Amino acid sequence: MTKKFLKFPDNFLWGTATSAHQIEGGCNNNDWSHQALKKYINKIPWADKVIKNIPDAGIACDSWRRYQEDIELAKNLHIKLYRFSIEWSKIEPHNGEFDQTALNHYKKILISLKKEGFVIMLTLHHFTNPIWTAEFGGWEKKKMIKYFLRYTKKVVAEFGDLVDFWVTINEPGGYAFCSYGIGQWVPLKTNKFKMAIVFKNLIKAHKQSYKLIHHVIKDKFNKFPQVGIANDLQAYSNYRKHNLVEQIKVYFIYNFSNHLFYKLTNIKTHDFLGVNYYFEVRTHKQFNTKTKNDISVKHEDRHLTDTEWVIYPRGIYDVLYDLSDYKKPIYITENGIATEDDEVRIRFIKEHLEEIYYAIKAGIDIRGYCYWSLLDNFEWAAGYRPKFGLVSVDSKSQNRQLKASAKFYSKTAEANGLWWNY
Ligand code: BGC
Repeated sequence: MTKKFLKFPDNFLWGTATSAHQIEGGCNNNDWSHQALKKYINKIPWADKVIKNIPDAGIACDSWRRYQEDIELAKNLHIKLYRFSIEWSKIEPHNGEFDQTALNHYKKILISLKKEGFVIMLTLHHFTNPIWTAEFGGWEKKKMIKYFLRYTKKVVAEFGDLVDFWVTINEPGGYAFCSYGIGQWVPLKTNKFKMAIVFKNLIKAHKQSYKLIHHVIKDKFNKFPQVGIANDLQAYSNYRKHNLVEQIKVYFIYNFSNHLFYKLTNIKTHDFLGVNYYFEVRTHKQFNTKTKNDISVKHEDRHLTDTEWVIYPRGIYDVLYDLSDYKKPIYITENGIATEDDEVRIRFIKEHLEEIYYAIKAGIDIRGYCYWSLLDNFEWAAGYRPKFGLVSVDSKSQNRQLKASAKFYSKTAEANGLWWNY
């Protein structure tokens, strides 16, 4: 057996990621909140359905109040990059009315992070929308873009000197697909036409906010910001390599899902590429049935994560390699696993980091890695069941406890690399 230390480049940024609705608590004014939906029950046709089918985040990890504790935790993990999101519905609770208290609150968080020496990656939109936007149809409507830009302008003018990386939109493709294509997320729609409109509006919103952020920051702070998105990228493959039709199908799905946003926004509107990588998708021919090709591996009895995703570390290498053609710096903005077994989490992180290490060795410009997530948190339609965190959170007391994986990750970040036995 050979022991090898996989040393990451100096200045490689180790980090974690979270989002406001998933950890803050008190997000009672957006389209995922039962409280907000109840108030709008007669104004939003799908409000009732969401209340019945989607769990409420409630107090979540209470990070709105315990943010300092979270920052301390991150510090103990020896990480340098802190990715989190701000909640639009708290900042602009009513159309055109900004809440200075909420803005000040986020400013306090940002200042505290800076004091502790963190590099800050801030997400402006992570799935949730103020409830007042849902009333007119949210991202289905073109006017959503102008509202998003107004909110962006306000936030950038307030925080422009404190933020290092701006993520305009988290997973635009995933959001359009899950919320409007397959009806898994709010507003639970299954309308491919609407999905396309939403995607188109998100493209415009990103392009325009890219310009706006650059403009405001240059104007007000005389700096050049780093702006991008956190894109959901999957590895795709088909089983029957001899089958040209299946190979072509994978080619199209891959390019549609992983590249379309870059192509339609123009790569020039991405100062960096944010990669959210979790799993591989396999186009699968169901044996002994008449069903058509299906994208599922469930009937294989394979070991899957608690969110039923295929664990495929090599996929992150392939995705990174593929993206390197854009010649932009890459940050892994999310990678993680839902599991109750922390040994499995450690293995998952190790195996993915190994692939990232080799991708860097292959010459790809990868500058940072965020594990999703710092805390066990609200996992959208699945509620609190899946555990992605390095740190567990007691659902009653919200007490935080470091898991073994947190200690492993902390050691890796501190040593700027990890040992492998070959
Ligand atoms: C999202 C996170 C989510 C994670 C795990 C990503 O798609 O950005 O909000 O919790 O995946 O499902």
